[in-house]
Amino acid sequence: MSTMQDLKSEIRNCGRCPLADSRNRAVPGEGDLSARLFLVGQAPGVDEDEEGRVFVGRSGKILGELLDGPGLSREEIYLTNLIKCFLPGYRRPKRGEIDACSKYLDREIEIVAPEFLIPLGYYPARYILHKYGINVPEDKSEIFNRLWYSRGQKIFPLGHPAILVYDKEARDEMVENYDKLRVLSSNCKWYEVCPMRRFNERGVLDDRWIETYCKGDWESCQRYQMEENGDPHPDYILPDGSLSERLRGHS
Ligand code: URA
Repeated sequence: MSTMQDLKSEIRNCGRCPLADSRNRAVPGEGDLSARLFLVGQAPGVDEDEEGRVFVGRSGKILGELLDGPGLSREEIYLTNLIKCFLPGYRRPKRGEIDACSKYLDREIEIVAPEFLIPLGYYPARYILHKYGINVPEDKSEIFNRLWYSRGQKIFPLGHPAILVYDKEARDEMVENYDKLRVLSSNCKWYEVCPMRRFNERGVLDDRWIETYCKGDWESCQRYQMEENGDPHPDYILPDGSLSERLRGHS
């Protein structure tokens, strides 16, 4: 496995596709190499192409504001793009460009090995879901703002910050959607003492429950909500609120 430094230098000198002729600078990702959250934009804009750094232009400013909500800084996440070079006229990426460039994204993912992949916008989301064997819904609205889990990887696609450059009305909803990153940035505070952990360690509860709730969207866990509200609940209630006869037998 190459180091991130080797990979960045390979990206900066890349000539795998014709975008190499029109770009000023190819832009590798940056951030915490052991980040829990790994965000993937589409491609550098003109400012990124000038500076050689991800999300330093208008979209980057908006992304910074959206990350302020859940209290995250750029330094504690990893931030990159599906395509490492500017797409002339901000056009959509072509199939061949995605095929050539996604090799770099794959290697960044391998090095950082994040808990969550957070694709921003349609093309990164489509690539990432497909990479983990998920059938991409035709209805684009079914892709975003939900937690996917496949082949051991958690994926939470969000809308691209550039949407707010053109549609200011979408801001409140976007702020609310990005707030989920606050939840995803830590495990459930009850995890250590939760019976779900015990059942999982004893081999009677599938990892999926732990990954998608305890170490995923714990705020949506019915057990978490009952705990917070002081509502009594038996050990064999699952995170989705259903009762498990199997767990009842092991209680
Ligand atoms: N938009 C992106 O998707 N990525 C950037 O780095 C900048 C703008």
